[in-house]
Amino acid sequence: MPSFLTFPEHFLWGAATAAYQIEGAWQADGKGESIWDRFAHTPGKTRNGDTGDVACDHYHRWPDDIRLMQSLGLRAYRFSIAWTRILPQGRGAINQAGLDFYSRLVDSLLAAGIEPGVTLYHWDLPQALQDQGGWANRDTAAAFVEYADVVSRRLGDRVKLWITHNEPAVVAWLGHSNGEHAPGINDVATAAAVSHHLLLSHGWAMPVLRQNSPDAEAGITLNINWTAPASRSAADLDFARNVDGRWVRWFLDPLYGRCYPADVTADLEAEGAFPHGVLSFVQPGDYVAIATPTDFLGVNYYNRVIVRSPAVAEADNLPPTVIPAPHDLDHWSEMGWETYPDGLFATLARVAFEYQAPRIYITENGASYADGPDADGRVHDARRLAYVRQHLVAAWRAIQAGVPLAGYFAWSLLDNFEWAHGYAQRFGLTWVNYETQERIVKDSGLWYGQAARAGGFAPA
Ligand code: FCB
Repeated sequence: MPSFLTFPEHFLWGAATAAYQIEGAWQADGKGESIWDRFAHTPGKTRNGDTGDVACDHYHRWPDDIRLMQSLGLRAYRFSIAWTRILPQGRGAINQAGLDFYSRLVDSLLAAGIEPGVTLYHWDLPQALQDQGGWANRDTAAAFVEYADVVSRRLGDRVKLWITHNEPAVVAWLGHSNGEHAPGINDVATAAAVSHHLLLSHGWAMPVLRQNSPDAEAGITLNINWTAPASRSAADLDFARNVDGRWVRWFLDPLYGRCYPADVTADLEAEGAFPHGVLSFVQPGDYVAIATPTDFLGVNYYNRVIVRSPAVAEADNLPPTVIPAPHDLDHWSEMGWETYPDGLFATLARVAFEYQAPRIYITENGASYADGPDADGRVHDARRLAYVRQHLVAAWRAIQAGVPLAGYFAWSLLDNFEWAHGYAQRFGLTWVNYETQERIVKDSGLWYGQAARAGGFAPA
């Protein structure tokens, strides 16, 4: 390996955030209630009852946050739009103040030399739409297209990177099948219908984005971690197939024109996911819409998951996922996620060569460590720095292997509200003091900024 890894000239060195995780101001300037407002306000749903009511107060501090990115030398910023700021009731009346907020943000980013990348849906559905069935209701896909139209009409002249959805698998399975996320539903049949309507809304929105933002790239972001079987036993191999199938192939396959995978359909049928008939929610034309060509695939990659079949685990009284030794914080983040950079290489190769994704962005990658300021006032987060560097090495190797990787967005610009974990998990390149809203760029952020400016870095 060379002593300095040079990345392609136009590689986007960025950082990512999501509206509910950083903005706060949950009722400001005409914003409507979202399912995450409702969920976090429901006792027992998040750690310590934490909410995004204030979060990083980015809604008011965004000029400082842009200056911070500029000081680091970042070339791109991926953020999401809160649907409820634009259409407080989900559809119908438009709230100009919400559009103005994002329009100012985009203008200021461009003035700072930072490319804005917009995620339309990062999990905060308007509660008014949830009250009509949410994503289980096919009509919500139509509402999403209206929302995408309103936003892209206003921002489409300046935004050149559009992401329809962030991690539809997490929305479907964590939100509707095990209730860990908003809207907190535990029903596999609902979750299966939700997954389809999310994909459908993506496909339907693509032509609208193209029309309103003709010079932009548009695509979708999936969470693709690396699933490995705990042993070579038939049971473990089959379970790894099942897990990867429902979390990854169930979404990738239809997006790339292969319809839903038959093996996963059978798994879900056995679980009672299709009470009205197998895949009864698929209507004529849906598969074609979902497979509308995109310009890129966004990949969120964090870790490897080693799985045991539930039957084996139960019989041997073992946990369903394996935690390989040594279980130390150099190889594990505080989320309990294993650091496994080779999985990023393998994942990029998989989507590039098996699915022929024409271009790929790593739209999230990062690690949770609690390190805060030392006596010197700096945050020496050596483990996060190592994590980011190792994953960028894997990304560089993938590019050498022919993967059309065009950018990397660190998760996250700031420590923020980590969903059901509340403020306990810190993923930021920047440390946030939630009492004072002070920001301190961590060592990892300083290192990453240097790499961004130099267009590469020394691997060791
Ligand atoms: C991803 C989410 C993101 C953040 C990271 C840690 O699944 O897209 O919002 O929570 O995990």
